[in-house]
Amino acid sequence: MDKAQPLTGQPASFDMLLFGATGDLALRKLVPALYRRHLAGQVVAGSRILGVARTSQTREAYLAQIEETCRKYLRAEEFTAERWTSFAALIDYVTVDATQIQDFHKLAAVLSGRDDVVRVIFLSTAPSLFTQICNHLAAVGLVTPKTRVVLEKPLGQDRASAEAINQSVGAIFREHQIYRIDHYLGKETVQNLIALRFGNTLFEPLWRRGRIRHVQITVAEQLGVEGRGQFYDQTGALRDMVQSHLLQLVCILAMEPPASSDPNAVRDEKLKVLRALRPITDRDVQTKTVRAQYRAGASNGQAVPGYLDEAGVPADTTTETFVALKAEIDTWRWAGVPFYLRTGKRLAERLTEIVVTLEDVPHSIFEGPSSDRSPNRLVIRLQPQESITLSILAKQPGETMRLKPVNLALDLAGSFKEKPVDAYERLLMDVVKGNLTLFMRRDELDAAWRWIDPIREGWARNDEKIKSYVSGSWGPAASSALISRDGFAWQDES
Ligand code: BG6
Repeated sequence: MDKAQPLTGQPASFDMLLFGATGDLALRKLVPALYRRHLAGQVVAGSRILGVARTSQTREAYLAQIEETCRKYLRAEEFTAERWTSFAALIDYVTVDATQIQDFHKLAAVLSGRDDVVRVIFLSTAPSLFTQICNHLAAVGLVTPKTRVVLEKPLGQDRASAEAINQSVGAIFREHQIYRIDHYLGKETVQNLIALRFGNTLFEPLWRRGRIRHVQITVAEQLGVEGRGQFYDQTGALRDMVQSHLLQLVCILAMEPPASSDPNAVRDEKLKVLRALRPITDRDVQTKTVRAQYRAGASNGQAVPGYLDEAGVPADTTTETFVALKAEIDTWRWAGVPFYLRTGKRLAERLTEIVVTLEDVPHSIFEGPSSDRSPNRLVIRLQPQESITLSILAKQPGETMRLKPVNLALDLAGSFKEKPVDAYERLLMDVVKGNLTLFMRRDELDAAWRWIDPIREGWARNDEKIKSYVSGSWGPAASSALISRDGFAWQDES
């Protein structure tokens, strides 16, 4: 495995090539993130941002397009005419059809004389184009030692296709030049989870079997497939969310303390977690996983259609928009501690939350209803607002000894004057600085797919009809049954 490049700490000037520059991710996330980093003074003088896409249009037309989306996705106070003018001066646009080598010669001409500048190639195109783009970039001499390539998910459809992408990209770039992005790792609370676990002595003795009873991770979205029906139907919640975001959260929660924050030290520990996940195969698929699709219902008080009525979605599809599953990690630290994961679209709320439930007291000396004995819980909320609270029992004022859960909450917003940085802002600047810690290594990706593939294969073999849930609910009843069989409940049901 390649040694990671040393961190420079400060960003250097860079050229950022956004392939897929007219797509949803670039317009909604990447360009606004670069605008904000520019405002923060992190886009060093001499840097350039190149929109690269197949649409044949002028620089002015592209600027008009991104101005409109920046106005929409940035806060009103962030967007001023003067700031826009200085940001727009960094932007250029090049029309490139990924299949046409002559278009890459055009790109090489635009970048000529800039081989000494850090070059970031962000591929937010269909993954089927990754190989061709990398080959063409190499053929026209655009891959320099200072070039880094960022691969946006989904990285493949299964282990074999992910491996094919890794091999072809790996034939052009060395591993330390490849940044497989998972934007959940850039979220502020995920960093805080790392700080909490490895910056304090309080939690480590508790962070294990015997102390922790079970862990829940919920990534609930209120949105449906938002016009991406055709793409989404090829993917489904297991590949779109579990294979990447949820498994990465499991890794951060469950990994052993790394020896340092060196990228490979951290990624080695995450890899061990992925490799220790107990495979969910044949028989287990039915008892340990639930998949479902949303039906018509209401979201935020508005009537919404079911998944099968969304544009681009085939009428007979069995693609899941919801998954719940029970993961187990076969290590000394985690044996017997279930990790329940669930994610879905069109759920009751937008909520991303990790709930770590500690063991019950071995013997209670308090009389009263069982709620008086509810176990301690550490709740780490990533969205919509970040928060970390520890729920502990305290005495309710009065003559009788009644206990009630009370929250001990970290005042994250009030303790710092700095505002949290959006995940893509942080990760894009990490690429510029050469910091690989929050990006997935090739073997991690492989281990994640190795665990996911048998679940999909099990679903395909099993002719049980896919379940459904009403839009605006917390998912199908089978999701509650999955966890209640073990004597627990999802946080929203407890
Ligand atoms: C993306 C998925 O990776 O994450 C989307 O492809 C999903 O389907 C999105 O909506 C959720 O990200 P966030 O940051 O809004 O929770």
